[in-house]
Amino acid sequence: MQRDINVYDATAFELEFSNSIFEQKLKKQFSGVELGYNGINKNIHSATPREWYVRSWFSVVPFYYINKIVKDNPSLIGDIGCGGNFFKDYYPNIFGIDPHNASADTRARFDEVFSQEHTDFFDSAFTINAIHFISLVDIKDRVLQFQNIIKPGGMGFIALNVARMIEKTPIEDLIKHGWEDNISNGIQDRNHDYNPKCEILEIIENFVRQELTGLLDYKVFDISITQCYNDFMDGNIRIVFQK
Ligand SMILES: C[S@@+](CC[C@H](N)C(=O)[O-])C[C@H]1O[C@@H](n2cnc3c(N)ncnc32)[C@H](O)[C@@H]1O
Repeated sequence: MQRDINVYDATAFELEFSNSIFEQKLKKQFSGVELGYNGINKNIHSATPREWYVRSWFSVVPFYYINKIVKDNPSLIGDIGCGGNFFKDYYPNIFGIDPHNASADTRARFDEVFSQEHTDFFDSAFTINAIHFISLVDIKDRVLQFQNIIKPGGMGFIALNVARMIEKTPIEDLIKHGWEDNISNGIQDRNHDYNPKCEILEIIENFVRQELTGLLDYKVFDISITQCYNDFMDGNIRIVFQK
């Protein structure tokens, strides 16, 4: 099973990020904003957390990963499910895609058809907590669909929150895989406050690791489902890869 590599280290990244141009810009743009470095954000509930809560809390964690995919100065960077298209202010050449948000450069939904129509399209691309509204059983297909939109040799970063995927998983698959620990409450009760038992979290994490092992050429493999089941700001499955 794939071991974690280049995992997010909050202390090291705080040192690297402090006083960078990005931090200075963030502080100017959002005066009084507290920068969060701890990588685990459990306490804010919102559909688009950065957009709604940017004045009270801003997590810099994604910069750690995005910095790794922009090293070769890609001329076209896709942000799939960009929400408020916030990262466009920080990296040149971002093209934000989102089905709902007016700040996107294009309104579109990522799915199998989108992936096929954009084969080898972006020099690099990232997606943060946006393409995960699918059954966990389909995680492998979704990751491959995302890889497909990047040109050969290009870099990709995917962040997913496993809690959103468990919510979308049919009850029979939850039972089959041992991911459901309270069958009598059923699928309706598996809301944002649902938190499976530790043993179940381990089973879920092992499944994710098994599905993703060997699938891509990983530069970062950072999975922390057992530490935080519902990381809706930065995701608890974070991978950086080269196509
Ligand atoms: C939690 S927000 C994250 C926004 C942004 N990526 C960020 O990190 O701040 C989820 C976003 O995903 C978008 N979204 C949902 N389903 C999507 C899909 N199938 N393809 C693309 N975007 C999607 C939503 O419209 C929403 O803006």
